[in-house]
Amino acid sequence: MVQSYSTVRSLKEKLQSERAEGCRIGFVPTMGALHEGHLSLLRRAKQDNDRVVCSIFVNPTQFNDPGDLEKYPRMPEQDLQLLDSVGCDYAFLPSVSEVYPEGFRLLEIHFGTLERVMEGAHRPGHFRGMATVVKRLFEIAEPDTAYFGEKDFQQLAIVKKMVQEFRIPVHVIGCETLRESDGLAMSSRNLLLSAAQRKAAPLIYQGLRMAQEYIPHQQPAAVKELVTRYIRQSPLLEVQYFDIVHPDTLESLEHWEQHPVAQGCIAVLTGGPRLIDNIRYRTDA
Ligand code: PAF
Repeated sequence: MVQSYSTVRSLKEKLQSERAEGCRIGFVPTMGALHEGHLSLLRRAKQDNDRVVCSIFVNPTQFNDPGDLEKYPRMPEQDLQLLDSVGCDYAFLPSVSEVYPEGFRLLEIHFGTLERVMEGAHRPGHFRGMATVVKRLFEIAEPDTAYFGEKDFQQLAIVKKMVQEFRIPVHVIGCETLRESDGLAMSSRNLLLSAAQRKAAPLIYQGLRMAQEYIPHQQPAAVKELVTRYIRQSPLLEVQYFDIVHPDTLESLEHWEQHPVAQGCIAVLTGGPRLIDNIRYRTDA
């Protein structure tokens, strides 16, 4: 049975005793409403470590839109059952005041392009809040290894940078995006899609994949236009941004020369939840 903790002190004590016994700790931070994507991270953590901890915390400081925070799906009972089903050892479900005690200050991050472009430009403050909570959770769980989905490609880049900058002794692993059978990237926010929005949403990944056919014959600007137009065939989908960037620096690419791989990153407004996705392109075909 997964053991559930709600205080920093009790979880820290438990994990300290596990570490003293020589156990390697794997950690999967989540905001709950767990789906197969999360479970795949937990299975990987279970394979690599002696003990696995999963945090479930809807982090208010990373929501730039109060409506989004309010609507974010919460289903702790079901989450705990799912954690049990994959053999997760410890669940951490803290309150907001446990994570952010009085006087707690948000982290200052100055990661340049990494945090300024794409999600950074469209969700002011999001990465600061995300980095703050991930650093705090790392300090609480002190894991050997932490697992993040590649669906949040920019988040993963920022977490890796943060670990480096703040010299946090944790190994960060990015795991492949899991998709529904029609290609839609798994996300807790998919639960908030109406039937019509859900039906339209697979166009996002179809558009991302279609772009590969035009690379490298068409330059990035033309490819971006083609993908945007493809997705716009549904009146329900509005591409907020689609950029093709260097996979490490996230700088926007203007041509393919000397860039054998590139990352296409997209955010789409559906009238319901905002969806993001990304794909790796080969440019030397
Ligand atoms: O990806 C998420 O679910 C969140 O951004 C994370 C990493 C759990 C931090 O709140």
